[in-house]
Amino acid sequence: MTTKNPIKVAVTGAAGNIGYSLLFPLAAGQVFGPDQPIELQLLEIPQGLQALEGVKMELLDSAFSLVTNITCTSDGDEGFGDVDYAFLVGSKPRGPGMERADLIRENGPIFVGQGQAIDRSAKENVKVIVVGNPCNTNCLIAQHQAKRVNPRNFTAMTRLDQNRAKAQLALKAGVPVSEVSRLAIWGNHSPTMYPDFENAMIGGQALTDVITDHEWLKSDFIKTVQQRGKAIITARGKSSAASAAWAAIDHAISWSRPTPAGEWVSMAVPSDGSYGIPEGLIYSFPCTVNAEGEYNIVPDVALSSFAKEKAMASAEELLAERDAVKDILG
Ligand code: NAD
Ligand code: LMR
Repeated sequence: MTTKNPIKVAVTGAAGNIGYSLLFPLAAGQVFGPDQPIELQLLEIPQGLQALEGVKMELLDSAFSLVTNITCTSDGDEGFGDVDYAFLVGSKPRGPGMERADLIRENGPIFVGQGQAIDRSAKENVKVIVVGNPCNTNCLIAQHQAKRVNPRNFTAMTRLDQNRAKAQLALKAGVPVSEVSRLAIWGNHSPTMYPDFENAMIGGQALTDVITDHEWLKSDFIKTVQQRGKAIITARGKSSAASAAWAAIDHAISWSRPTPAGEWVSMAVPSDGSYGIPEGLIYSFPCTVNAEGEYNIVPDVALSSFAKEKAMASAEELLAERDAVKDILG
């Protein structure tokens, strides 16, 4: 019998596709461990509440021993009340023929209200993980509304891109995915993201020594990672959900315990000006997390001129996105 106080976790869009895949591993202790009780605070729009009641029934029917309470609500203050973690998933996914940035005018305002509710009601040290697209700029919007919370606690998810990139590299090299390390995503969760293969390792060797088809790395590999979301929409008719939920779990796990020695994790975090990326943009960098659960951008990563150009192009795109929402940044 555990004596720990429950961790409170908010999940928005909890009745949606990602929510459905995210809640069960969360409730099973996948992120916070097998002895950490958890209270789930699930948010939906009013039209989603009936479906959310069904999800709650299924959570109850799973008899998760760690779950001490489940709240279903459309009220931001109730949903974010006193939470330690907030997964901001709820928002519209893109359809075929759209870019994620096309969602900004529709989804951006959601993150104004949610940022304000987090500011009023969440714990001051709440950790926020934005999944809803375009996630970097939605994260920026929410962060700007929540002045009480440390701005560093607002992050957006590029872990799916990291996982996708590692999987492609493992397939190409014919090794288990666990052999691939230090693969970092730079930039925006968009077609301009840059998966940095030049600093990645396979089984302790430089990846570029193991995969000698450098033309593939520079072209097909990068394009496959950048366009993977679109490829899944084309194949499934719906955007990625289970892999996205799993990446959100990975992001939260990585943010709550020390990064294994020699490994990096990709997180879109507020730029501190590192690598010439304009300060304040929510930009994906290679990070490490310390024993206190604080992330740091990995310093002194060697970037070739090819990599620098790609990293800057993604920053330019984020500047344009920021400009497009300046009226709601507050
Ligand atoms: P979905 O349509 O299945 O579910 C979204 C849910 O959010 C719906 O149930 C909807 O009612 C709810 N919702 C909408 N507005 C809300 C609000 N204001 N408050 C609370 N709930 C709200 O979509 P999905 O497949 O779960 O995808 C959700 C988002 O995640 C999309 O924007 C998608 O593009 C994004 N996504 C991001 C990544 C990533 O890697 N960052 C990966 C996959 C999907
Ligand atoms: C993804 O990368 O799968 C998501 O961001 C969904 C999308 O629109 O591509």
